[in-house]
Amino acid sequence: MPTTLMPPLGKKPLSGAAKQFQRDVLEGLNAPKRAIPSKYFYDQRGSALFDQICDLVEYYPTRTETAIMQRHGRMMASCIGAGSRLVEYGSGSSLKTRILLDKLSGLDSYLPVDISETHLRATVRELETEYPQHTITPVVGDFTGPLDLPRATSADLRTCIYFPGSTIGNFTHAEAGELLRAMRITAGRRGGLLIGFDLLKDKDVLEAAYNDAQGITAQFNLNLLTRINRELDAHVDVANFEHKARFNEQAGRIEMSLRSLGNQMIRIDNQFFHINESDEILTEYSHKYTIEQFTTMADAAGWSCRALWFDSRKYFAVMYLEA
Ligand code: SAH
Ligand code: AVI
Repeated sequence: MPTTLMPPLGKKPLSGAAKQFQRDVLEGLNAPKRAIPSKYFYDQRGSALFDQICDLVEYYPTRTETAIMQRHGRMMASCIGAGSRLVEYGSGSSLKTRILLDKLSGLDSYLPVDISETHLRATVRELETEYPQHTITPVVGDFTGPLDLPRATSADLRTCIYFPGSTIGNFTHAEAGELLRAMRITAGRRGGLLIGFDLLKDKDVLEAAYNDAQGITAQFNLNLLTRINRELDAHVDVANFEHKARFNEQAGRIEMSLRSLGNQMIRIDNQFFHINESDEILTEYSHKYTIEQFTTMADAAGWSCRALWFDSRKYFAVMYLEA
């Protein structure tokens, strides 16, 4: 009779995705400056909490970008072009995308790409009801690696990438440059990119956006530890950490971390980490740009700015670029 190898008692085998998550967490905790990649915020609860963040009075980016899109959506839709396929990186609830989908007739297809599978599938079910005229093909995946996009249906189909929300800000300048280069290859020769990015502004406005009075951003940050406990073979006392977010003026970014409230031991798989009181685990960077900085970076990645829109306070910008 064939024998089945069983994991040691009390240990459940990890899926391929969870193994990668565990490797990344271990690598991050063993690094000289402890860090966990921000893409792991987005399990089902993380995605729902992000939606709540978008509605907070202090969190100006979503409201500001939505207003820019409402005002200039027609122009943006004409940049994308009727017959194109629209590939959205980190689509979340596809809320701003609906402004474009309303205005795009004859779109070849809409491909929302997201790492948060359950949330993506629920969003697509909604979109299919709202937009029976559009072909919607969800892609579950990590856009920082090779993406398994369906092949273009014809050689002259144009691909336009949509990357809203300032998600580009969650990458260091070097990583953002790499991502823009990879996007240019994905978009192809006649490709386009419509991208939203957050602009440098007053420190108080920035810090308030990441330290909301209701504590939703704190829940979003701490949920990463809850996810680690649930999905990995791990033991972390979530109540022994607190949310921190501050603006690093020199680097032009919000730095979000989990700060230890005492001396403690945490365990991931068979590794133990001693964390001292006040030690921090970096969980997210959120870079804020000047228009010049962003244009220079996009230029170096092979993109040329064709149009630029922003709000009257210059809080947020949406740029359309071509390869
Ligand atoms: N575009 C939406 C959501 C932004 S939140 C908006 O503008 O409101 C960031 C989104 O990107 C989340 O839905 C998250 O699940 C997704 N995401 C983050 N990192 C990702 C990665 N590496 N690959 C794919 N999706 C990612
Ligand atoms: C998705 N991303 C652009 C958000 C941001 O503002 O950096 C994530 C976020 N983190 C805390 N609040 C919102």
